Amino acid sequence: MATDAMPRFPDGFLWGVSTSAHQIEGAAGMRGPSVWDAFTAEPGRVKDGSTAAVACDHYHRYREDVALLAGLGVDAYRFSVSWPRVESPGGLDFYDRLVDELCAAGVRPVPTLFHWDLPAGLDWLERDTAARFAAYAAVVAERLGDRVGTWITLNEPAEHTLLGHALGVHAPGRELLFDALPVAHHQLLAHGLAVRALRAAGATDVGIANSHGPTWPASDEPADRDAADFYDVLLNRMFSDPVLTGRYPEGIGELMPGSPEETDADLEIIAEPLDWYGVNYYAPTRVGAPQGTETGSGGVTLPAGLPFSVRPIEGRPQTDFGWPVVPEGLTELLTGLRDRYGERLPPVMITENGCSYEGLDDRERIAYLDGHVRALHRAVEAGVDARGYFVWSLLDNFEWAEGYARRFGLVHVDFTTLARTPKASYGWFRELVRAQRCPPVG
Ligand code: BGC
Repeated sequence: MATDAMPRFPDGFLWGVSTSAHQIEGAAGMRGPSVWDAFTAEPGRVKDGSTAAVACDHYHRYREDVALLAGLGVDAYRFSVSWPRVESPGGLDFYDRLVDELCAAGVRPVPTLFHWDLPAGLDWLERDTAARFAAYAAVVAERLGDRVGTWITLNEPAEHTLLGHALGVHAPGRELLFDALPVAHHQLLAHGLAVRALRAAGATDVGIANSHGPTWPASDEPADRDAADFYDVLLNRMFSDPVLTGRYPEGIGELMPGSPEETDADLEIIAEPLDWYGVNYYAPTRVGAPQGTETGSGGVTLPAGLPFSVRPIEGRPQTDFGWPVVPEGLTELLTGLRDRYGERLPPVMITENGCSYEGLDDRERIAYLDGHVRALHRAVEAGVDARGYFVWSLLDNFEWAEGYARRFGLVHVDFTTLARTPKASYGWFRELVRAQRCPPVG
């Protein structure tokens, strides 16, 4: 564990933690079904056969969870609003109560409007879902906008497209491979339309949470470099270029649904200026030329037949999920975004960063977070305008297709009794935040 004093971040830097509705709320009977409910009901979809029907029961225990946030001393809490709950009678009342509780505790609410729990019956292959999303965003902003200043439209449209619609390992379980591209376009359009809807409701601090990671070619061979470039376009640039520059990477726009004129008109909406850009970072990916067999690393298995293959990153510690621990990847990623987008990149916030480890005395998690916060600081020193850092996650929770087997929380949850127990990392993060607020020494 590192013992050197943590360097100081700029004044006003936001320290926070993140969660998402489907992963913690439970109270499934008090909302409409989402695509995740249908998916988890299918045998074999979730590794431990569990569902999120109860999860952490945050819906009923939110006061206790806000007290944990207050005890942690964080500035902000990133949670997500469940679209199917909002569509159910009285559903928005829950977020009203949560936001009131957060405000009373002095914690800034940072809602994400979509974190993968699409109402059952809606489909991102349909263009109309984008307009439906904007209408829903307007309803939420209308209700919470007097107390919520900071908004996130979507969480990781890249993962939702890849895992949910291309590979079928997340809801809704489609295996469309490249035919999943309209899902990406419609989510991006939904993002742009929602930014407009939020602004119309008076919002002045709007961002998106995109997942990013450096893509490392498996070797210097041209075939490996080309494969890595292609992967980088699909998982990184396809989601940042349109938002930040109003264009798709070369060759991608043509693959999107609609005529070129329609795509251009959509891109104008997608590129609606943002106040900040959210980055979720976990690890880099090492990519090489296709190998003709299934490949995988860190939990994602790619079928043969794709124009790239994922290779293991050797020689690094691994989290319980099998993800390599590469803190300097965060510095590389952020300086890379800054170099690529220049002035088009608004201030960034790390909207997710974390790891899964067992145990209450979670020294590996402390080491992981410590290393990544320092790596973020190195990016700040290199001139990246970073304004916030959110740990994934406050609580152990329903880790999608992994069920309850992966624990990302600063707080342990016993999924039988639902008791919350802060881990060693909770105390470590509390001290980090407190020290950042003390006047500088000397
Ligand atoms: C997602 C979270 C998830 C975390 C760990 C992110 O991709 O936004 O919902 O729990 O990764 O897998």
